[in-house]
Amino acid sequence: MKGIILAGGAGTRLHPLTKVTSKQLLPVYDRPMIYYPLETLINAGIKEILIISDPVNIDNFIKLLGDGKDFDITITYKVQEKPEGLAQAFIIAEDFIGNDNVTMILGDNIFIGQDDVLKKAVTSFKTGGKIFVKQVPDPQRFGIAEFDSGGQVISIEEKPESPKSDFAVTGLYIYDSSVVKRAKAIQPSARGELEITDVNNLYLADKQLDVVRYEGFWLDTGTFDTLLEAANKVAELRKNKI
Ligand code: TTP
Repeated sequence: MKGIILAGGAGTRLHPLTKVTSKQLLPVYDRPMIYYPLETLINAGIKEILIISDPVNIDNFIKLLGDGKDFDITITYKVQEKPEGLAQAFIIAEDFIGNDNVTMILGDNIFIGQDDVLKKAVTSFKTGGKIFVKQVPDPQRFGIAEFDSGGQVISIEEKPESPKSDFAVTGLYIYDSSVVKRAKAIQPSARGELEITDVNNLYLADKQLDVVRYEGFWLDTGTFDTLLEAANKVAELRKNKI
């Protein structure tokens, strides 16, 4: 299992914080944001990680994390020239993925707890796709799962105006290597992005998507409020440990 951290993007909702730096380098309490998704992948047992970021910020990630030796893993880097969507990461990472399975985590997503569940999902993964959903108060911001009466997911809608549930697809995705082919098969959405929701719907159409409820703490730190909430959560955890 290989790992990708997607750490580019425009970060417009956090302007001016992100005007001259990457969102994923901003502090979340005592560490740069990217440490959290990195730790999530490491705790899941992944040892080969590719970090994808934009041309301006990539060098700072290299300065910060180097070749991964300090973490006892291997880190390599690739540039995404423009923020053209989450699914573009799999096209950029084609050579890195090769014939292996891959777990991608978004650089602005913080998962706390349930490390054992994620590790088991990663180590026991065989084929298809696996995603994690969690109830959110603001479903219009996310990819949202629609369930049938038997509790099976029948579709995923990206940022729906009228969400069919409040179960959001979190930013941790496990796929087999066919994800590259699938990412190449989709077309950019109206907002000009290759949507990971479209990739998930391709797996779903092939009955190859496993949708699991994530029971830990999860936040996407893309707004001022969620960035602050993440920092407060980490501070609380650190202080309780002392
Ligand atoms: P988003 O939060 O959807 O986008 P963004 O970071 O550009 O922020 P904003 O909407 O405020 O402009 O991105 C989710 C994560 O994925 C985040 O860590 C940035 C990353 N990302 C990329 O690396 N490349 C991309 O093309 C996109 C769309 C996002």
